[in-house]
Amino acid sequence: MINIAVLVSGGGTNLQALIDAQQAGKIENGRIALVVSSNPNAYALERAAKADIPTAVLRRKDFGTADSYAGALDTLLREKGIGLIVLAGFMTVLPDSFCRLYENRIINVHPSLIPSFCGEGYYGLRVHEAALAKGVKVTGATVHFVSEVVDGGAIIAQKAVEVEEDDTPEVLQRRVMEQAEWILLPQAVSDFCAGRLTVRGAWVARKEKE
Ligand code: GAR
Repeated sequence: MINIAVLVSGGGTNLQALIDAQQAGKIENGRIALVVSSNPNAYALERAAKADIPTAVLRRKDFGTADSYAGALDTLLREKGIGLIVLAGFMTVLPDSFCRLYENRIINVHPSLIPSFCGEGYYGLRVHEAALAKGVKVTGATVHFVSEVVDGGAIIAQKAVEVEEDDTPEVLQRRVMEQAEWILLPQAVSDFCAGRLTVRGAWVARKEKE
């Protein structure tokens, strides 16, 4: 059984999708053992508490450097024997040393089809604002392993979502979550925990169930 830590900063709808999947028995060989929030007021913390999942708050501003922040996070993760870290709307960039330490053991969900609308400065609603400003007809979500390059790690899964004429960033965000993020993320987490994912350079192979 792989212990999963979910790192959050806000509303936590992706965390909720993981909790729901776990409660429905859809996270094979994995269980959410810890939720860490970078924001003490994140609604995600309430979602975790309702599901009886231990929580911790680590604020970046309480630490002098990114490395000391990551060191405190690493200590927490070791205490819980964490084997998979999921970034579910986690808005603090982790230092290179941490990404290397947990290579191929950190999964992120991003609300666009990478390599569009990603990298430094593209997070949350801003991603959808940029997609609408460009007039793309299709956007979507990507679940990927985290590397030292922001949104640059090996892609596990992607799903396209149509943009509609009168979309606002909020409406588009909701559609991308419903049609892509909340489906892709629990699936990828389950695949990881069940040992179905193999990273070969930029390509992640997924073994089908036998
Ligand atoms: C989600 O759309 C997630 O993909 C995005 O923030 C939102 C968090 O929502 N993450 C990023 O933009 C990371 N670059 P949630 O707190 O309701 O899961």
